[in-house]
Parts: sequence; C-alpha cells; structure tokens
Amino acid sequence: MVFLIFRLFLLLCFGLAGCERRYLRKEAYDTVPELITSAGYPVEKHRVTTEDGYIIQMHRIPAGRRVARKAGFSEKGKKAILIVHGLLGSSSDFIIMGPERSLAYLLADEGYDVWLGNLRGNVYTSHVNYTKKSPKFWEFSFHEHGKYDVPAMIDKVLNVTKLPRLMYVGYSMGTTSFFVMASERPEYNNKVISFVALAPAVYLANMKTIAMTALKTLELPQRMRSQGMLSLVFRRDLLDLLIRNVCFRSKPEEDICMRFMYMIVGDDHEQFDKELTAAILYRVQPASWRQLEHFGKIAMSDVFTSWGDGVWGAARAYNLSNVRVPVSLLYGENDMLTEKNQIMRLAEVLSATGSLEVVRPACDWAKFNHLDFVFAKDLGTLLNKPLVDYIKSLFNKYGPS
Ligand SMILES: *[C@@H]1O[C@H](CO)[C@@H](O)[C@H](O)[C@H]1NC(C)=O
Ligand SMILES: *[C@@H]1O[C@H](CO)[C@@H](O)[C@H](O)[C@H]1NC(C)=O
Ligand SMILES: *[C@@H]1O[C@H](CO)[C@@H](O)[C@H](O)[C@H]1NC(C)=O
Repeated sequence: MVFLIFRLFLLLCFGLAGCERRYLRKEAYDTVPELITSAGYPVEKHRVTTEDGYIIQMHRIPAGRRVARKAGFSEKGKKAILIVHGLLGSSSDFIIMGPERSLAYLLADEGYDVWLGNLRGNVYTSHVNYTKKSPKFWEFSFHEHGKYDVPAMIDKVLNVTKLPRLMYVGYSMGTTSFFVMASERPEYNNKVISFVALAPAVYLANMKTIAMTALKTLELPQRMRSQGMLSLVFRRDLLDLLIRNVCFRSKPEEDICMRFMYMIVGDDHEQFDKELTAAILYRVQPASWRQLEHFGKIAMSDVFTSWGDGVWGAARAYNLSNVRVPVSLLYGENDMLTEKNQIMRLAEVLSATGSLEVVRPACDWAKFNHLDFVFAKDLGTLLNKPLVDYIKSLFNKYGPS
C-alpha cells in the first residue's frame, strides 16, 4: 500500500520512454547476493518450491563479517532467524541501508544465522508453469503468502539447518502473512520460537476511506486489469525519468514525491536518507491487484478476513486464536498506514488468547513512520541495535538452551 498511490500517479502522468543509462548508485541495480558480498558478508542462495508451484529464492547470511574471515567457521548450532518483507518489497529491504544499519547485517554480526525470505510476486520468485506474463501467475494475495510461501520457507530453513524451530521477524505484509499461516496452518506454531511483528498489518480501519475510494469509486484494479495490466508494476524507464526530473529536489518543500509519500506513510523528513532513497525507489517490487484488494477488503469490512468470494464477498475472519507463539508488536508513533490504534486492537485480541508478548513503540522517535522500519537514516541506532538485543532476550526466554 505504501507506494500504491504514488505508483498510480506515475502510471497516469508519464507516457514517455526514458533511457536505460545507469546513473544511480549501484545499490539501485545490484542483486541482493551481490550487495551482501560487496558489504563483506558471506551469502548463500536457496531455492524452495511451494506446494502450488511457486519457486522462491531465499538469501542466507550464515555469519558476520569478522567470523566469516576466520578459517573453518561453521554455521552448525547457530540460531536461525527468518525475516520476511512487506508489500512492494523483497529481501533487499533488510540489507539496503548497509552494515551498522540494516537488520540482517546486525543480526549476522551478533552470530545469528540470518535467512531473508521472498514472497511470490517479487523479482526473486517464479512459477513452474506460468511466467509473469500469465494472468494465472498473479492470482494470489497474502492469503497464499501465508498458506504456502511462509510454510515452505520455514521448512527450508529448518531442513538446511537441522534445527527444530526458528525465530520469525516480519515487517508489514510479512506479518500479515504470518498471521494467515498461524490461522490456516496452526501446526507451524510448533516450528517458531517467537514472532517479532514490525508495523503489523492486521486491522486497517484507518485506511477505510482510501480503500473505498480506490476500490469502489475509482474501481482501480478492474480498470487496470481491463487495460491488460496484470499487476501493479513500475516501468523502469518511467521510474528513471521521474527520479531524475521530479523527485528528490534539494529543498524538501519542493520535493513533491516525498510530500506525496508522506501523506500516506506519515511525515518524517529528518529520517529521510537522501543518498539512498532513489535507489530504494528503483528497487520497488510489483504487487498483484488481489493483494491490494484483499487489504482493501480488510480495511472496508474491519475484519481480518480471508479473501473468500472476492472483495465484495462475505467476510470470514482468520482465526487469531490459532496463534500460539509469543508475539511482539512494535509500532511507529507516526505510522499512518499501520496505525498505533489498530495495532492496539490486535494486541487486545492476542492478549485475550495468551499469545501477546509485548506491544510497544518501535523506538522513542516520535516521528517514526511506516517506512522508517526499513529505511530510516538512523535505522541502526533508533531501531535495529536495540532490536537485536531484544531478539537475544527472546531467544534466552523461549529459545533452545
Ligand atoms: C504444472 O504443469 C504440469 C503439466 O501440465 C501439471 O501436471 C502440474 O500439476 C502443474 N503444476 C502446477 C503447480 O500448476
Ligand atoms: C530435506 O533435505 C534433504 C537433503 O538434505 C532432502 O533429501 C529432503 O527432501 C528435504 N526435505 C524437505 C521436506 O524439504
Ligand atoms: C479458532 O481456534 C480455536 C483454537 O484453535 C478454536 O477453539 C476455535 O473453535 C476456532 N474458532 C473458529 C470460529 O473456528
């Protein structure tokens, strides 16, 4: 949802072809394994196929920078953490800010075995029978992410590491997928030590007006589908043009791109990283229309509902009583997408069934917004370094001894 309106704006305003020259920093173009290697960390790629035929590439950082240089290091007996991204994101979101800032590097340096997941739809996924040019490929939402992708990735990690359980960290839609999994496949509770939910997207009543406007008044997904657009996807050449000519003006008040984005995610100019934002924007991943419609259905019905008979079909609540791992809910004080009030409601539900570990602000930065969870300039000091300590305390409390 983060870049949704921003993207539509792009699609509507620009029809020109740009050029293919590479003028952004390499963070815009390199693959995740290339970036991890350049940062001095070891990296592995793992492939997993889901029950319904989607092929997912996962990225593993099995050791920190210092450890990896020593001869004969072994990942045996390490504690595994699976981190899963949000809407329009990928494994890139947990490394793009580099060492000392991004979560994956900080955890690897602390000795954890870090696994970065990818959800069907992004650049690291494909299907055994369909290409991304087939409408069939795009018939999914986070329902399928939760029912198939997350379980397959958890099994992969446990099979490779031979561990019985792992720690799960989700961001935004990466948390939605976890809650769907717990509801639909509760046996997976037994494979998870604890679940850290960053900006969890479960109740979205605050987005009701936007959802109504986009889905009912403007009928955006139907219109786009009828234009032959299979998914919400950025054209690289248009992105180029926009980044070069419209976005990232030197004076913040002139930067219509950022102003537009802040309208959706909450304003936080101070944590805006000028150096990297163009690269981050360039890496934005596609979304299926159904993902957006499904979030819209949740916002409009005010029920954490499954997709069922589509966006206007009856709401059928996912069963959150099936969540049986300790869940930590971390919110941004100024997050306008996954708003504090909505996360407090989720906390009440989880608390009633005994699975709430904690609900608290992610950090003491009052302007912390939805995107700051992955892209804040001071991400290391504000969020991730304390988060690594917190994760350590969870392992001590619940993890393997
Ligand atoms: C892929 O195609 C093969 C051959 O038609 C079929 O047997 C198989 O079930 C398909 N798999 C999926 C996941 O669609
Ligand atoms: C687990 O890994 C082994 C190889 O180490 C493989 O033979 C087996 O099929 C895998 N099982 C699952 C469920 O992926
Ligand atoms: C939800 O799950 C709980 C615990 O697993 C179960 O007792 C309850 O019957 C379920 N509720 C529904 C409506 O399926």
